[in-house]
Amino acid sequence: MSLDEAPKTEFPIPAGVFAQTVTSVEHYTDRLFKFRITRPSTFRFRSGEFVMIGLPNAEKPVFRAYSVASPSWDEELEFYSIKVPDGPLTEHLQKIKVGDTVLMRKKPTGTLVNDALLPGKRLWMFSTGTGIAPFASLIRDPETYEKFDQVILTHTCREVGELEYGKQLVKALKEDPLVGEMAQNLRHYCTVTREDYPFQGRITDLMASGKVFEDLGVPQISPETDRGMICGSMEMLKDTKTALEGFGLEEGANNKPATFVVERAFVD
Ligand code: A2P
Repeated sequence: MSLDEAPKTEFPIPAGVFAQTVTSVEHYTDRLFKFRITRPSTFRFRSGEFVMIGLPNAEKPVFRAYSVASPSWDEELEFYSIKVPDGPLTEHLQKIKVGDTVLMRKKPTGTLVNDALLPGKRLWMFSTGTGIAPFASLIRDPETYEKFDQVILTHTCREVGELEYGKQLVKALKEDPLVGEMAQNLRHYCTVTREDYPFQGRITDLMASGKVFEDLGVPQISPETDRGMICGSMEMLKDTKTALEGFGLEEGANNKPATFVVERAFVD
């Protein structure tokens, strides 16, 4: 028997994790893809939280933090992932197919939840790259629109093709019978930094210059009316946090709600 015909090694599912089935996979660019898995009937989470994801390909599988991109009412769980060429998890995860098994630790957590913010008029969600994932969950949750009159999702990527997941999502959301009407209060502000695009530049620079406020026709951010959530690379988190503090906002947490929150789970 050749190696190709040998049965794949089966590793036991570790204790304390869910083993779920992949229901769909969609690749957007050579660096980005989305996948959906079945949802365990006992699994509860708050929109915006993350879980630890792995594959049953080793005795002790590698787990990485992934925001659940689907809203808490959804029957399936959606994730949006980067493909890192030699990434211990993503080099394998990017090859998953419908019917494959994905492991998920049982406890969700995270700071990008509505409960960690004081009530306000306008919610800003600042994302770069795959940092849009927790907001993909929150913008599909009616609670977000019950708590805020206006929701602004900013998404900045290097290239235009990297905006596709967010664009499809917002389009589908606005047509959704359940939250579509509420989502009319959602604005989606996309910018690109390394290709031509109608809106260009880092969100931090666009806040400093005031261009983002002009483009959207909203006042500059103020602690009286505005709330923020930030998800991106470590540098982006740091610089966006500084910008929000410059407008007088203060960082909060689950046990101490304030005017903005940051998710640091994805930073190495
Ligand atoms: P830039 O192209 O100017 O680096 P990455 O893939 O490196 O996480 O970047 C995703 C997007 O986030 C890019 O458009 C990038 O812009 C932008 N970005 C990177 N660092 C920061 C930062 N410190 N503040 C704001 N935006 C940033």
